[in-house]
Amino acid sequence: MKFGHFDDAKREYVIDTPRTPYPWINYLGTQGFFSLISNTAGGYSFYKDARLRRITRYRYNNVPIDMGGRYFYINDNGTIWNPGWSPVKTELDSYECRHGMGYTVITGKKNGLKAEVTFFVPQDYDGEVQQVVLTNESGSGKTFKFWSFAEWCLWDAQDDCTNFQRNFSTGRVEIKGSTIYHKTEYRDRRNHFAFYTVNDTIDGYDTDRDTFIGLYNGFGDPQQVKAGTCGNSLADGWSPIASHYKEITLKAGESKTLVFILGYVEMPVDKKFEADGKTINKEKALAMMEKYNTPEKFAAGMAELRAYWDKLLGILNVNTPEDKVNRMVNIWNQYQCMVTFNLSRSASYFESGIGRGMGFRDSNQDILGFVHQIPDRARERLIDIASTQLPDGGCYHQYQPLTKKGNADIGGDFSDDPLWMILSVSAYIKETGDWSILDAKVPYDNDESKAKSMLDHLTVSFYHIVKNLGPHGLPLAMRADWNDCINLSCFSDTPGESFQTYTNPKFKKEGGYSKVAESVFVAALFTYVGPNFVGILNHLGKKKDAAKAQKEIDKMKKVMMDSAWDGNWFMRAYDANGQKMGSKECEEGQIFIEPQGFAIMSDIDKDATKKTLAAIDERLNTKHGLVLNNPAFSKYYVQYGEISTYPGGYKENAGIFTHNNAWIICAAAYAGEGDQAFKYYSEIAPAYTEETSDLHKTEPYVYGQMIGGKDAGSDIGQTGKNFGQGKNSWLTGTAAWNMVAISQYILGIQPDFDGLKVDPSIPATWDGFTATRLFRGAKYNITIKNPSHVCKGVKSMVVDGAAVDGCVVPYVEGKKEVNVEITLG
Ligand code: GLC
Ligand code: GLC
Repeated sequence: MKFGHFDDAKREYVIDTPRTPYPWINYLGTQGFFSLISNTAGGYSFYKDARLRRITRYRYNNVPIDMGGRYFYINDNGTIWNPGWSPVKTELDSYECRHGMGYTVITGKKNGLKAEVTFFVPQDYDGEVQQVVLTNESGSGKTFKFWSFAEWCLWDAQDDCTNFQRNFSTGRVEIKGSTIYHKTEYRDRRNHFAFYTVNDTIDGYDTDRDTFIGLYNGFGDPQQVKAGTCGNSLADGWSPIASHYKEITLKAGESKTLVFILGYVEMPVDKKFEADGKTINKEKALAMMEKYNTPEKFAAGMAELRAYWDKLLGILNVNTPEDKVNRMVNIWNQYQCMVTFNLSRSASYFESGIGRGMGFRDSNQDILGFVHQIPDRARERLIDIASTQLPDGGCYHQYQPLTKKGNADIGGDFSDDPLWMILSVSAYIKETGDWSILDAKVPYDNDESKAKSMLDHLTVSFYHIVKNLGPHGLPLAMRADWNDCINLSCFSDTPGESFQTYTNPKFKKEGGYSKVAESVFVAALFTYVGPNFVGILNHLGKKKDAAKAQKEIDKMKKVMMDSAWDGNWFMRAYDANGQKMGSKECEEGQIFIEPQGFAIMSDIDKDATKKTLAAIDERLNTKHGLVLNNPAFSKYYVQYGEISTYPGGYKENAGIFTHNNAWIICAAAYAGEGDQAFKYYSEIAPAYTEETSDLHKTEPYVYGQMIGGKDAGSDIGQTGKNFGQGKNSWLTGTAAWNMVAISQYILGIQPDFDGLKVDPSIPATWDGFTATRLFRGAKYNITIKNPSHVCKGVKSMVVDGAAVDGCVVPYVEGKKEVNVEITLG
């Protein structure tokens, strides 16, 4: 069952009921100011950091769900409603929500009154602009009452929802004309405030939540709205809000447009106040209001936003026989990549914005799907991330976006982290040809005095693996590898210990983690990523260094065949007792997905590749995607840690963890199995799950982290119960990796050090496809023909009329347009 449809021409998803199976959200903003907005206008805003600069309040895991947002209330002669249905939940005569690229339009109609609200964050602007168009379609005159509503968060979102003994006494506001300013702590240590304004006169306001809503009322029945009044309240402590009140009369057919702005302002310390030393200096705020205070300016801002996305989405455009592929590649997958690039895993409807900043491995991987969009921002990010690295190549696992400092509470020692940086820096160079990034001076541990070249960072990253090998010569697993839930050094038996941060005293002498537990996944990642490092060294003419690194890669490949090949697939690990994990010899968890894809793409062994792909299809594949491991763990294994705490079929315990599905899609395509690759791709691609949105639950336009696996429900004796149900939508490495899988491996358009490589691996039934790609200043018009209906194999390539050997289009400086015609066979 569907709850809306794609409008590809407008690049929108159109939701036609407010009662979606879960709130279906969108993101506004791409630089500093961000908002989350659900299809009923729930959500919140923050500046840069969802924890430290939370602007409005939101209630996670509330009953009912999705409480807190920017709400407009209408009281039309006793009928009270919101344009987005919630929170009042009066049945509307019609409802529609359009989530587009950086904007959302929600339209509700009731008793002949139509309210269309458009929300967006303009480019280079620290505020959310909301345009409300009220139209009287009733055929006779109408007078009604109208309220806006936003609830301020007292800045630090963590403190805001815990420290009530203080917070109930600190909230402060200021009101001037139609603008409500939020200035809690502004008179002391904060140099920022927020405001909520409307471009019209108002008939009153409220800034004290209890006065507006009523202590025993909810968002759905605010006492002022019910009474058709406002309290003109001035908050002094408790919970400050911002609500404008206005009486509106419209003739038959008449419309009224109001533009609201929710803005954020930072002030230089010496300019915070007016001469009285108390009143906010509003210069900057007024200038911001001036920018969007008319419908014309609003329209201009929207046009600018559209132009921005036209440009970004114009970089890669494909036309395949599958509409759903085109929709994912040309619109939604790229859009999600921007969001994951901006927010890592910090703020979504499943990530509270207070738990995690930017993940080292997460952000590096996010770059893979984003780098072609705005390479300069990717470069800046790479330098930020690398600056948190430690001189020995180890990494802080996370950093805060506001301070850009490594997070000491979580620390480091995640064995995979350094490798992702080699991959992301390589992706940046392949996209841009900008080798100068390798010379950039980048601090270690955020200490400028320890700055060295980016190449040095890559070198210590590579050798961090080589220097930390276990008894078999495989990389040590350390605290965890990519799978945060395989905690081989934890042995945790005490409730409340974090599997991610807890270090068992047992390993104190060894430096915090087992020197026996080894990760086959990191080995496979090393052999996949390593050749990029070698390629960079060769390009720089450092042949000796390149040969030395290559030796390590070759050695690792041999170790993998000698000590990690299980007969039909690669094992997962050796645990701290030296026992095999992910082997046919194990009782549960005999096969794991993670190492397989990277091992295949490392060309370790042809026969192993074949057997591995077959085993994956047999043991891991389902109609909803590939499960992470099989069989699921049905009990707690203290030597494995968190993975065995999840009931079977969920999360890392045999859930369909879509992120690593992409690695198999890439690997199958790489191995020439285009049909197999495409099968796995379409099992999880959001556009393909749209038809079963009632089961899938989360947004049909973006990937989620996890889909219930075939073992879901096994814990309660109802195996299969939530099989196919999605969770944790939006902020997942799945976005970047599936972008890579479809565009670079299946469609085969892959930036390489020497130019653009085109080597598709598609379903044999396809006649071919066309694509355009902007790459290093030139537009590539690509035509793929598949007359013999094969999956893979470039039989001939013609570039601008001349035959060229191989499948890498040589890069020619200064060329503006390149026509590439490829025939498969
Ligand atoms: C989450 C984390 C990611 C990790 C994955 C597997 O998605 O953000 O860093 O690799 O889970 O545990
Ligand atoms: C939990 C999650 C995992 C995530 C980690 C981040 O272990 O299961 O997916 O990566 O938390 O800290």
